[in-house]
Amino acid sequence: MRRTRRSPYRKRLGAVAVAAVAVASPLVPPLPAVADSVVVGGQPTSASDAPWVVALSSRDRFGGTRSGQFCGGVLVAPTKVATAAHCLREDVLGERPGDIRDFKVIVGRTELHGSKGQEIPVTGVWTHPSYDPKSNARDLAVLTLARALPAGYVLPVAEAGDAVHRPGTEAAVYGWGDTTGIGTYAHTLRSARVSVLPDGACAQAYPQAGGRTAYQSDSMLCAGVPQGGRDACQGDSGGPLVADGRLVGLVSWGSGCGRADSPGVYTKVSAVMPRM
Ligand code: ARG
Repeated sequence: MRRTRRSPYRKRLGAVAVAAVAVASPLVPPLPAVADSVVVGGQPTSASDAPWVVALSSRDRFGGTRSGQFCGGVLVAPTKVATAAHCLREDVLGERPGDIRDFKVIVGRTELHGSKGQEIPVTGVWTHPSYDPKSNARDLAVLTLARALPAGYVLPVAEAGDAVHRPGTEAAVYGWGDTTGIGTYAHTLRSARVSVLPDGACAQAYPQAGGRTAYQSDSMLCAGVPQGGRDACQGDSGGPLVADGRLVGLVSWGSGCGRADSPGVYTKVSAVMPRM
């Protein structure tokens, strides 16, 4: 999520970010950490190659220069977008998502400063009833769109037990987020290639200790590259991790961006997505 131009709640979020280093801290850049690189380490891609990627937008809340983009999302049915629950928290948005009058999903727009593609109003927001903002477990929300998109925009969701969850699976993450870890928000859609990591490695990177946010294998998965340098970052939250043409994860949280020992953590969609 990118920073907002409205500041009343930026301070509050700053405090949140300090208290919880490895948490999803939308709207605030990560700690002044030096990001090892740039979607960190990614390359430009286009909405036509990834038609299911969407931008969550509110120009009211986030300004118009980047089409109001504040998170990513992915079309999982003609009128349904999966995203991260933490993107829609009231302390993040400054108001309840239902109160944002210009809350839209943008489809088919590679360049956020352009006007290509479609903007579709959001008419409903469902947050996973067991989403836990403290641990970030079950970080899933599903938006309902005012009109349906053609089936070609929909990305199938990997089911539980699908081989794409196996460690070593090559995947790609998509977003318009920070490319450096210090608040350099992309104007153009990017993607980075990462591998699904073993649960053991994720738990080792984010152990249950010292009040830090811990990895929970039942509702999360993590992905990265051994040397670091390729990762999602702030502003990519809610966006898809895709392998073999299927949705595996949603960008959720991490410590810094692209650090070798701090892989990106994703919502394990197969474990938390309701039947639609
Ligand atoms: N919480 C961030 C957001 O709201 C996403 C952070 C992902 N970080 C990572 N290193 N993969 O945009």
